[in-house]
Amino acid sequence: MSTANTAQTAPALRAAAAAAGAGAAAAAGLGAWGVVVERRRFQLRTERLRLLPAGSPPLRILHLSDLHVWPGQRSVKDFVHSLAQLQPDLVVDTGDNLSHPEALPWLLEILEPLLRFPGAYVPGSNCYFAPRLKNPLRYLWRDTSGEARDEAPRLPTRAMHDAFDAAGWTPLINRSARMEVAGLRLDLSGVDDPHLGYDRHPGFGAPGTADLRLGVAHAPYLRTLDRFAADGADLVLAGHTHGGQVCLPGGRALVSNCDLEPERCKGLITQGGVPVNISAGLGTSRFAPIRLFCPPEAVLLTLTD
Ligand SMILES: [Fe+2]
Repeated sequence: MSTANTAQTAPALRAAAAAAGAGAAAAAGLGAWGVVVERRRFQLRTERLRLLPAGSPPLRILHLSDLHVWPGQRSVKDFVHSLAQLQPDLVVDTGDNLSHPEALPWLLEILEPLLRFPGAYVPGSNCYFAPRLKNPLRYLWRDTSGEARDEAPRLPTRAMHDAFDAAGWTPLINRSARMEVAGLRLDLSGVDDPHLGYDRHPGFGAPGTADLRLGVAHAPYLRTLDRFAADGADLVLAGHTHGGQVCLPGGRALVSNCDLEPERCKGLITQGGVPVNISAGLGTSRFAPIRLFCPPEAVLLTLTD
């Protein structure tokens, strides 16, 4: 009896071991794909929205987010430089630009062709505090809003913003601004990073005085999106979520790293009746350099009447 059982069990064990080996190999291959290929598979997503008053010329907004630059990166530079060919009317950077205290020269080299266009920006937590090696993957599955400031190395925030300002980009750090772009009057309102609790909404200018009211934030917390809607925004731009970064096949996100539902954490969504473009971002933390079923992206929004 025991001999027969042994004879039946051995093939079953070998099959299980083979299946486990194949599963491990598949997982390792998927991980390698995510580290080597997917996080460099840069995409340009295009969106078209009818938001402008009748008779307005089209407005092309290039939305960048979450570059998370560290020294030595080259592939993202080639992609970002290629975006200058789009000749956008306005570039909007929704933050998380750095992932290393010495990365500012690399960031400015990456952005250089785009800094020649009119631009506006808000910071994210990774414009203030560098990521740490400790528990590096926490970004992917848990709320990190309370962790960013704990003993984290400071990033060169002031120098980065000075460089943006010198290039003519408009800071929207808890402030509003009026811009004349492509013959249109834009009323912009931005907040400092809601993920850090730094957000203080400045509101928009007087009603009826702009062709477009644009809200800008790094992290798309519901309170932030709802407040922009209440203030009268026509469109909101945000980043932060990385689109879930490590997703299921089909791009289904498991986390948003904020209180927005994961299934709405990238692409064009609507909140409070207002369209919100959430960029899946262009980078990752340098301590979690992987993307799965969620390629990095820039977004070109063409607004028409
Ligand atoms: Fe980010």
